[in-house]
Amino acid sequence: MRPAGELEGTVTVQGAKNSALKLMAATLLAEGEYLLRRVPRINDVEIMAELLTSMGVAVHRAADGTLVVRRGADCLPEAPYELVERMRASIVVLGPLLARFGRARVAMPGGDNFGSRPIDMHLRGLEALGASFSFSHGIIDARADLLRGTKVVLDFPSVGATENLLLAAVLAKGTTVIDNAAREPEIADLAAFLNSMGATVGGAGSATIVVEGVEELTPADHEVIPDRIEAATYLAAVGMAGGEIVLAGARADHMDMLIHKLGAMGVRVSETSEGLWAARPGRRRLTAVDIATLPYPGVATDYKPLLVTMLSTADGVGVVTENVFAANRYAYVAELQRMGADISLASHHAVVRGVARLSGAPVKAPDIRAGAALVVAGLVAEGETVVSGAHHIDRGYEDMAGKLAALGADVRRA
Ligand code: EPZ
Repeated sequence: MRPAGELEGTVTVQGAKNSALKLMAATLLAEGEYLLRRVPRINDVEIMAELLTSMGVAVHRAADGTLVVRRGADCLPEAPYELVERMRASIVVLGPLLARFGRARVAMPGGDNFGSRPIDMHLRGLEALGASFSFSHGIIDARADLLRGTKVVLDFPSVGATENLLLAAVLAKGTTVIDNAAREPEIADLAAFLNSMGATVGGAGSATIVVEGVEELTPADHEVIPDRIEAATYLAAVGMAGGEIVLAGARADHMDMLIHKLGAMGVRVSETSEGLWAARPGRRRLTAVDIATLPYPGVATDYKPLLVTMLSTADGVGVVTENVFAANRYAYVAELQRMGADISLASHHAVVRGVARLSGAPVKAPDIRAGAALVVAGLVAEGETVVSGAHHIDRGYEDMAGKLAALGADVRRA
């Protein structure tokens, strides 16, 4: 890509990757056919579909794009290493398999670019519900003759642990209380889907979720919520390149804190009947602000690479603090420095001194969000920028190059 001036036009926001994957896992809970609408066409969805298919579940796209999932009577409750290794989120099949089949063999997820990502809270929570685990050769062998509702207090509002517990508790005997639960909008979307399958989940989206276990569930249809991280990516793009865009389908109520931060930086964002309107008028540079990532409703850690990229050409110095993942969720900083950014790292902090202009360079995408941020940097960097490792971006973004080009950007897939 090369700079091509201000962005203009409308982008339709895809369905949320971080909800769609969990909704697909939830189909393991009951036999029958499910229709899931607005499931994004991204590689992670393909991997989850492959995982379900390897268990004997039929998954296909209907002509209108709806994902049709047919779960037959038989299901092989196993998640092999080849698939778990490609996508950590596969671990979320553990809860529904235990709840529905009383057993599961799931490969232990390894680390990734963010460093070690333990699943201790998943396992401790499921153990409290009555599951038992043995580990050998990198495989978790899980058993549960009967899951019993109980109170689980999470050490940290982990998204994955909250979802795995939720997916197990819906078929457990009695009441489960998940305290210090994650409050991300994707959790509430999963709970809404489970309730439409006949579950009794209350309090999703708050720090305390209460689940009354039921005997059985039935299939349901659902429309995935919009992807707030994808929407944030296009907000960052217009913030960097200037112009005026509309994000059709985006939900302002899922992005309050980010919209507030962008406003302080000089990006105007407002809610419309269609979704979100955003603009960065004129040539004035963005204003530097400090940012700390936090669990929802704080500033999401997934927004951080985008915000660091915006700060790299802002007027002033911004201090960014990572509070959700380990210190090394800054793998992309070296790539931004190659483009002339002035960023210094100290443990969980990045100090970003804005420069007048970045310069285009060949850079490597280390993961989904960092890859997208490097593309956004390339929209304004002088000369040509080539982002390799685009397969990372394809894991979470539907046709990013096409959507940016539709807004007037000079971007293409090589
Ligand atoms: C989900 O990951 C998202 N992934 C991530 O988005 C997102 O960054 C993250 O939530 C935080 O919002 C999906 O939904 C597929 P966590 P998850 O459990 O569930 C520690 C993207 O780009 N922890 O909330 O894995 C953990 O190490 C991805 O779309 C434990 O210590 O995140 C981390 O430091 C990247 N033990 C923190 O909690 C546990 O048992 C938050 O992790 C579980 C988590």
